[in-house]
Amino acid sequence: MVKVAPSILSADFSRLGEEVHRLQRAGADWVHVDVMDGMFVPNLTIGPDVIKALRPHATIPFDVHLMIERPERYLKQFAESGADYITVHVEATEDMEKTLNEIRRLGRKPGISLNPGTDLSLVEPFLGDIDLLLIMTVQPGFGGQSFKPEILPKISKASEHRKKNGLNFEIEIDGGINRSTGLQCAKAGATVLAAGSSLFKSADMSAEIALWHGF
Ligand code: DX5
Ligand code: ZN
Repeated sequence: MVKVAPSILSADFSRLGEEVHRLQRAGADWVHVDVMDGMFVPNLTIGPDVIKALRPHATIPFDVHLMIERPERYLKQFAESGADYITVHVEATEDMEKTLNEIRRLGRKPGISLNPGTDLSLVEPFLGDIDLLLIMTVQPGFGGQSFKPEILPKISKASEHRKKNGLNFEIEIDGGINRSTGLQCAKAGATVLAAGSSLFKSADMSAEIALWHGF
C-alpha cells in the first residue's frame, strides 16, 4: 500500500495544529513539512520551533523536507523539534556522507531529495545509507505547480536500483501529485505520495486518501 503524506504548505497557517490533527484523522500516514530558507528556494516557510509546537497534535511520523542551503547547520534543531525523517537536498549539502551520519547519530531517519534536473546517479553512492529518497516532480519552492511527467523514468530507475540491491528506502514523490499523477508514480515504484493542493482542496480528504491507498 502506498503511503500518503499531506504537505501542510497548503494547510490553513492560522490554525496549523488543528490541520495536522485533521490530516491524521483523515488517514494520512505521514505529515510532510516543507522548510524553505529564501536561499535554496525563493520562498520562506517555517522552522524548527513551529514543528516543535505542532508535534503534539499528531502521532504519525513527521517527514521534514529541508529546502535550505547547508542544512547541516540545523540538524540538531530539527531533530530536537520531533522530526522523524529529515531530508536534505543533494544540491544544497556540502558533505552528504557526514550529514547522513549526523542525522542517524541524532536518532532520526535520513533522506535525500533531488530536484527535477538532478540525475539519480549523483546520489547512487548514498542509497544504501538512507531511509528515504524524495524525488521532486516540480522545481521546489511553491505548492500548486504542475507535475513533470518526464521525471517518471527517474522513479522507475530508483525502484529498480532498490530491488536489485536489496535496499528498502522509501521512494517519495513531491510536486503536482493528484489522483491521476499519483497513480502514475505508484505504478513507476513510488512508495509515498506527498501532496499539498490536491488533498487540502479535496471535498473529502479521507475519501481521497483512501482512494490513493488503493494505488
Ligand atoms: C514544493 C514542496 C511540496 C509542496 C507540494 O516545493 O516541496 O511539498 O507542498 O505542493 P503541491 O502538492 O501543491 O504541488
Ligand atoms: Zn516537500
